[in-house]
Amino acid sequence: MCGIFGYVGTRKDAGALVVEGLKNLEYRGYDSWGVACSIGDGFLVKKDIGKISEVNGLQFYEECSLAVAHTRWATHGGVTKENAHPHLSCDKTIAVIHNGIIENFGEIRDELKKKGHTFVSETDTEVIPHLIEEELKTAEDFAAAVRKACLRFEGRFAILALHTASHSLVAARTGSPLIVGVGKDGYYVASDFPAFLKHTKTVQYIDNGEMLVTDGNSIIFSDLATGVEKPKREIEINWSIEQAEKGDFEHFMLKEIMDQKESVARAVNQDEEQIMTLAKAIHDAKGTFLVGCGTAAKACMAAEYFFSVIAEKHVNFAPASEFKLYHHFLKPESLLIVVSQSGETADVLDAMRVAKLKGAKVLAIVNVEGSTIAREADYTLRINAGPERAVASTKALTGQLAVLLLIAYALAGKLRQGKTLLLETSSQIAEMLNPRYVTRLKELAEKIKNDENLYIIGKSWNYPMAMESAIKIQEVSYIHAEGFAGGELKHGPIALIEQDTPCIALVGNDEVTTDVITNSIELKARGAFMIGVAPKKHEVFAEWIKVPDAGPAQAIVNIIPIQVLAYFLAVKRGKNPDMPRNLAKSVTVK
Ligand code: F6R
Repeated sequence: MCGIFGYVGTRKDAGALVVEGLKNLEYRGYDSWGVACSIGDGFLVKKDIGKISEVNGLQFYEECSLAVAHTRWATHGGVTKENAHPHLSCDKTIAVIHNGIIENFGEIRDELKKKGHTFVSETDTEVIPHLIEEELKTAEDFAAAVRKACLRFEGRFAILALHTASHSLVAARTGSPLIVGVGKDGYYVASDFPAFLKHTKTVQYIDNGEMLVTDGNSIIFSDLATGVEKPKREIEINWSIEQAEKGDFEHFMLKEIMDQKESVARAVNQDEEQIMTLAKAIHDAKGTFLVGCGTAAKACMAAEYFFSVIAEKHVNFAPASEFKLYHHFLKPESLLIVVSQSGETADVLDAMRVAKLKGAKVLAIVNVEGSTIAREADYTLRINAGPERAVASTKALTGQLAVLLLIAYALAGKLRQGKTLLLETSSQIAEMLNPRYVTRLKELAEKIKNDENLYIIGKSWNYPMAMESAIKIQEVSYIHAEGFAGGELKHGPIALIEQDTPCIALVGNDEVTTDVITNSIELKARGAFMIGVAPKKHEVFAEWIKVPDAGPAQAIVNIIPIQVLAYFLAVKRGKNPDMPRNLAKSVTVK
């Protein structure tokens, strides 16, 4: 959700610096933006609705070494220039940006109004600079005033507060992510590290319930509630700038789809001893649960089949947002496996808390190193996909599937066999994603781009992939798409099929192939334009998209052409696939 980026240090171009860094957080999704630079006794503020990358001539010529920038995802108050952050105190010496929700902002605002504070927006955020301003009248310094204000706020938030007089930046966190970049020339504080990757790869993490204060020369972390100082380690991150950039690709989504030529192999490259330890933990657990949201949830659903077919192990899937209703089934001996690209998804964090309250252990499968989920879990496996910037998750999904499949093989005592299968699959993906193949999918997108409905069917692990196909197509092309288990068609959805309705069948070469082909024949008989994603051609397919025969890794290869198709459907319909409407990359609010 909202992107946050602040800087304090010796550089004199802080305004331009935070604007540039903020553009690297655009993938988080937003509807307005704003920047504040400390100049003289106050702040120079520029803000507007729309995309910051589309603003020409947004320059900060003024010398400034304390600045903050923000992309806003509207929650309280509409999408207006006035509601965009930063918000200022009455005396204009305090600027604040915020991610999250201040639930009790109404009562605080009423109280502050009575004390003479004037509000210019409809946001919950605006109470923050005003309350800090009020607290500063009695607090010993700016950091103490921010602490006192934060202790009044209810809800989860991440805040950056800047103060001209003390030339300092204070950050506080109770829910949404914040990371500090430690540079030679100052400190960078952001909601994600692409904002400052160009300047430093040394980071420090601020945890929930903590705050920091920095004047650019030094930094002090402390407990938000008690004020007790907390020592922090410096950690080097290993993602490169190139990995986080588009290169020659027109969009991140296409680049990240293409990254799958290598990223699946990177996901498989896990410490074997650790995988075996985790497999044993799953084996010994009294109840294993798999949770995630959206695309990651579809990886969890596919894993139910992996565990069942490969390891004959029963695990329970639930969308993370539903998981707390399962708490009756949790025991101290239970295991929760959480899957998340960002490692920051609020519903997943909540599910982890539910499990921890019952004493259960948590295994996290994440992409973002050092994310909250990674740090709060008992065990962590990284999928090593590299930065995923497009809102639509692609390479993270195939990495998640690869890791889950590997664990299923380890559980069955066949880790080597699983690894060999996945490495072979990785080479097959590299061959498959050739320019001819991509052009073929582009042509298919041209044929169906004007259709308003699209249905996808699959069976076994291809059933969650049918649902995932629908997510991918919906979110970037805005075509109405739905994924079903092939066998469910005749229990309802087949009524939707008309002459030439495009339908996609995700097929493997396994015990359920005949069933899915039969379902495809049923669809064709009702007029469907059948597109088969399958290792073998079949006469029922009006269009055949060939995929390698990948055995139990079929889910991984079958979803990739759909990702490419979704990408081209978006582009051909004039949509920006990297920034779908109403969506955010990292959903840190519930
Ligand atoms: C869809 C998509 C989302 C995410 C979901 C979970 O393409 O990206 O459905 O999968 O919001 O996000 P993470 O994996 O970061 O927990």
